[in-house]
Amino acid sequence: MPDLMDISRRRHTVRSYADRPVEPEKLAAVLEAGRWAPTAVNAQPQRILVLDTPENLAKVREFCTFGWQKKYVDLACESDTPEHDRIVLYYGAPTVLLVCYDRDVCWRHPTTGETSGVTDATIVATHMMLEAASLGLGSAWISYFDHDKARELLDIPQSWEMVCMLYLGYEASDAAVHHDLSGSRQPIEKTCFFNAVTHEGA
Ligand SMILES: Cc1cc2nc3c(=O)[nH]c(=O)nc-3n(C[C@H](O)[C@H](O)[C@H](O)COP(=O)(O)O)c2cc1C
Repeated sequence: MPDLMDISRRRHTVRSYADRPVEPEKLAAVLEAGRWAPTAVNAQPQRILVLDTPENLAKVREFCTFGWQKKYVDLACESDTPEHDRIVLYYGAPTVLLVCYDRDVCWRHPTTGETSGVTDATIVATHMMLEAASLGLGSAWISYFDHDKARELLDIPQSWEMVCMLYLGYEASDAAVHHDLSGSRQPIEKTCFFNAVTHEGA
């Protein structure tokens, strides 16, 4: 049985998915892992919208479609030619989790008024992403999508703030590997400091 370190190392962002659905029991396990995530004062403000019908996935595709931008062309699953006026950043995932939090439910700092919502929802999404990896599912954490369009197309309540999407599914056998983005990490001394911040790290 793989331990958390194996799962953490094995997980990588999947940007091309096989035409194979996520089994209901695996989806249930992913959602359950999110349910057990810690949240501030245990308020559990996360609201997860599961999208897996053709109609809803078409909407995801719509709010992940942007005007052409050179820096995202390599990541796009589709970019129109020869005009190059459009890129699509939906990678064919059969299941998409839209991770939100309800700002009327989450903890608020008594003096600054800041809410814990983004942090809570991020921890929930991380639990779900690692559970997906442990079950052999691929995933992608997606922040770049049109929130306003998503709210409108999916009729998201006004008190819900969107934090990210998690694409879920099986990695396509011919999925491209983005070596510039995946598979490498900085040496530990670059990001972790013991008792004092070293001059080089600051
Ligand atoms: C907060 C956050 C936002 C991200 N947003 C996107 C995104 O909008 N589109 C995308 O293709 N990947 C996105 N990613 C995936 C990262 O590019 C990826 O995790 C990173 O390059 C490391 O690669 P790895 O996940 O394969 O280890 C995001 C990841 C995080 C943690």
